Amino acid sequence: MADQTEPTGPDLAHGIALTDLADSGKLVGHVGAEEILLVRRGTEVFAVDAHCTHYHGPLADGLIVGDTVRCPWHHACFDLRTGDALRAPALSAIACWSVEQHDGKVFVRGKRQQAAPVRPGSPSGKTPQKIVIVGGGAAGFAAAEKLRREQYQGSIVMLSNDDSAPVDRPNLSKDFLAGTAPQDWVPLRPDSFYPENGIDLRLKTNVTGIDARSREVALADGSKVAFDRLLLTTGAEPVRLSIPGADQPHVSTLRSLADCRGIIERAKTARRVVVLGASFIGLEVAAALRARGLEVHVVAPEKRPMERILGAQMGDFVRALHEEHGVVFHLEDTASAIDGKQVKLKSGGMLEADLVIVGIGVRPRIEIAERAGLAIDRGVTVNAYLETSAPEIYAAGDIARWPDPHSGESIRVEHWVVAERQGQAAAVNMLGGREKFATVPFFWSQHYDVPINYVGHAEKWDELTVDGDIAGRDCLLRFKLNGRTLAVASIFRDLQSLEAELAMERDAAG
Ligand SMILES: Cc1cc2nc3c(=O)[nH]c(=O)nc-3n(C[C@H](O)[C@H](O)[C@H](O)COP(=O)(O)OP(=O)(O)OC[C@H]3O[C@@H](n4cnc5c(N)ncnc54)[C@H](O)[C@@H]3O)c2cc1C
Ligand code: FES
Repeated sequence: MADQTEPTGPDLAHGIALTDLADSGKLVGHVGAEEILLVRRGTEVFAVDAHCTHYHGPLADGLIVGDTVRCPWHHACFDLRTGDALRAPALSAIACWSVEQHDGKVFVRGKRQQAAPVRPGSPSGKTPQKIVIVGGGAAGFAAAEKLRREQYQGSIVMLSNDDSAPVDRPNLSKDFLAGTAPQDWVPLRPDSFYPENGIDLRLKTNVTGIDARSREVALADGSKVAFDRLLLTTGAEPVRLSIPGADQPHVSTLRSLADCRGIIERAKTARRVVVLGASFIGLEVAAALRARGLEVHVVAPEKRPMERILGAQMGDFVRALHEEHGVVFHLEDTASAIDGKQVKLKSGGMLEADLVIVGIGVRPRIEIAERAGLAIDRGVTVNAYLETSAPEIYAAGDIARWPDPHSGESIRVEHWVVAERQGQAAAVNMLGGREKFATVPFFWSQHYDVPINYVGHAEKWDELTVDGDIAGRDCLLRFKLNGRTLAVASIFRDLQSLEAELAMERDAAG
């Protein structure tokens, strides 16, 4: 007999009693094989796809805020009326379904057609003809996609010195590296997306300079590209090791798809890997390579992994989690040289390694902005609209330092979702909008089957409260300064993490 999965909940084509759905309540049912989320707001009932278009997160476990639903996994947000993806990391809409109510019952009929978005007016009256985006990563891609979603008709040129079209970079240290994600999960969009949407994506194209006055960017081949508006999204690059032997072919950093493919290739014949650095990327790589059966050693100078960002207790948990999976730590130690397959440690020890992955941090790629005379402060300085110090030049993503209304400080972070949302906000502003970037920062990290979510930004704190049980993988940590919650880290407390995000948004707005 064929193995068939029963669809979840009631058959919504047959209807349910309105009283079965509390006000502001959620319910998952189905029409045929398709799972649908019903949400009641007063007498109105919305029916939308039950799963997020990012990684298929269950929207029923998310948070309803007004006429929107936020995804529990990575905090995307969808409009319940139109299905629109309002917040990255989701970039595609969810389907909306027609709802009928009669005789106290709610019925779900067919899928509704997606309404075309309304084109925003340009307050300045000057819609740009030529938008140039430097960078083909999270921020650059999200900006280009948003420009077309906003019905922008002018030219978009996207210049990237990478050799692959925009990819889902977070996957490169997680499922794809572990060998559990197929190749087609990695591109953010298929190659056909760019010509179909009139996006002139030029790969292997290095931008070497910006002339802010004549509004042109210079390319490495000597040619120039003119712009009316320019968006800089050059991201960050891994810090390179400067010890003897660091330039050998089996020593690699991880940023691009090509880096990831190189590591996968070597991992096929490697027995042991040494990861230098116990950062998020270093430890995600450790987990992914354990999944491939490699022996993994992690060498790092700190006493506890991730203590600076997640505190001592979470740091101990992360260490124990990796040890449970067979990772061997060499903490409070660093590599002093790599001699062939031997990694020499400062402490005097020596580790054999067929493969060495260096994850010792990144630095923002700000050289072209700096040479162009843009204001720089450990990143490219932007205002709340993501404008740099030069007219018509914007910056977003890992390079941008922006005034964060939540911490009250100018901050620069290296988070996927922040880069995408900044790219989108910059796109709207390049079209004449005045959208302040006021989103609460969010990132996630995945270690084996344990996701860690983090909202807010706390460079320092004077109080750390733990609700729940960290070792039991059910916890919420609050990082507070002078009694105010600056950030929240959680494991399997998704709804509370979303609620904390909302509270931080309201706190900054109020
Ligand atoms: C392996 C890995 C895993 C990660 N996992 C997570 C995660 O789980 N969660 C999370 O929140 N964040 C994660 N991050 C961080 C996240 O990917 C970054 O914050 C995000 O990619 C930043 O986006 P960006 O657009 O600013 O830069 P990038 O995505 O790095 O894009 C920069 C682009 O600019 C191009 N470029 C640079 N200089 C030039 C030039 N001079 N000329 C032309 N092109 C140029 C590059 O080729 C690239 O296309 C991860 C990063 C890595 C590397
Ligand atoms: S699965 Fe919904 S935001 Fe990632």
